[in-house]
Amino acid sequence: MRAVIQEKPGDELYVWDIPIPEPGPGEVLVKINYAPVNPSDLSLLQGTFATKPDYPLIPGIEGSGIVVKSGKGLIGKLRKGKRVACTSSRMRGGTWAEYMVTSAFRVIPLGKHISDEQGSMLLVNPLTAHAFIELAKKHDAETIVNNAAASSLGRMLIHLCKMNGLTLINIVKRESQIKLLKEAGAKYILASESADFEKELEFCSDRLNANLFFDAVGGEQTEILLKVSPPGSTVISYAKLSEQDINIDPRILIQQDKKLEGFYLGSYTAGKSVLQNLKTINSVKKVLSGDTKIKVSKSYDFSDINEALEQYRSNMSEGKVLLHPGKKKR
Ligand SMILES: NC(=O)c1ccc[n+]([C@@H]2O[C@H](COP(=O)([O-])OP(=O)(O)OC[C@H]3O[C@@H](n4cnc5c(N)ncnc54)[C@H](OP(=O)(O)O)[C@@H]3O)[C@@H](O)[C@H]2O)c1
Repeated sequence: MRAVIQEKPGDELYVWDIPIPEPGPGEVLVKINYAPVNPSDLSLLQGTFATKPDYPLIPGIEGSGIVVKSGKGLIGKLRKGKRVACTSSRMRGGTWAEYMVTSAFRVIPLGKHISDEQGSMLLVNPLTAHAFIELAKKHDAETIVNNAAASSLGRMLIHLCKMNGLTLINIVKRESQIKLLKEAGAKYILASESADFEKELEFCSDRLNANLFFDAVGGEQTEILLKVSPPGSTVISYAKLSEQDINIDPRILIQQDKKLEGFYLGSYTAGKSVLQNLKTINSVKKVLSGDTKIKVSKSYDFSDINEALEQYRSNMSEGKVLLHPGKKKR
């Protein structure tokens, strides 16, 4: 099969011909249809992702496909022949390949109303957006704030906040992104590059009683969120898109009763029962089979991986870049 390969963190990517892997007990073999490029894949390629993979690495954290073979075990046998959303198992290679072996628990059958393209993006961003709504409820929030809001996750959150009667303050980087979010139905949108950003955020957060701030940017932006958020607020850091470290005065936390926490979907779902997670996945599937779709900018054959990464890195807010096995010769 053809597979995208990286030999060590930070290295260039190549497409190799390698043997199709065999599923072991409790595993299935998925013939991949589509796989997105997510910021977490870029972290994986840089060697800064939460889990450290083995090398040579087949990247790709999530995707969609068909279960074509199953190892020993009931769940795998039940999944055989099904069109599924899937995530990779550590040590078993990722979704940027024609075939992937993964745990039978990491494949979720797709309803006929969810396309292969949308299904390939089901298990990371929609589940994270759903988790943010649960956290908002846990914090009794009436208003939450999210940055890097022109992202796929940010746009999904706009929809889920509306469904759940939550007010959302969106922070985008550039003023040109405000139009994008208006089209996605957002009401409160601030651009962090505008001169009055800090003042506007402080005013809006205070007026709308925001107490929960989701931060994908890190660095200076986290410092601003902690500074201007109302006393008693919590800032939840869930990515480091700026690649900057956070430099904060502990007195902000001590004297204003503010908290800085981390969020990682893998740990969040691991803290829930299988039944709770299945219930969440079902409600996310309902959202994706309705009018809410994740925007896709372009699809590329695996062979064009470096071009695909270039397109994604320079146009992230345009929509997701998808990879597929395509019809190119080996
Ligand atoms: N912790 C977790 O478990 C978890 C789970 C899911 C997602 N995430 C994180 O959630 C974020 C969104 O993911 P996604 O897949 O929805 O992203 P996406 O659709 O690929 O979009 C990324 C967005 O981030 C913006 N961005 C990039 N660098 C930025 C910076 N330095 N400052 C402000 N904005 C910046 C981009 O804007 P431009 O177009 O202007 O570059 C774009 O709008 C990612 O950081 C991802 O790692 C975390």
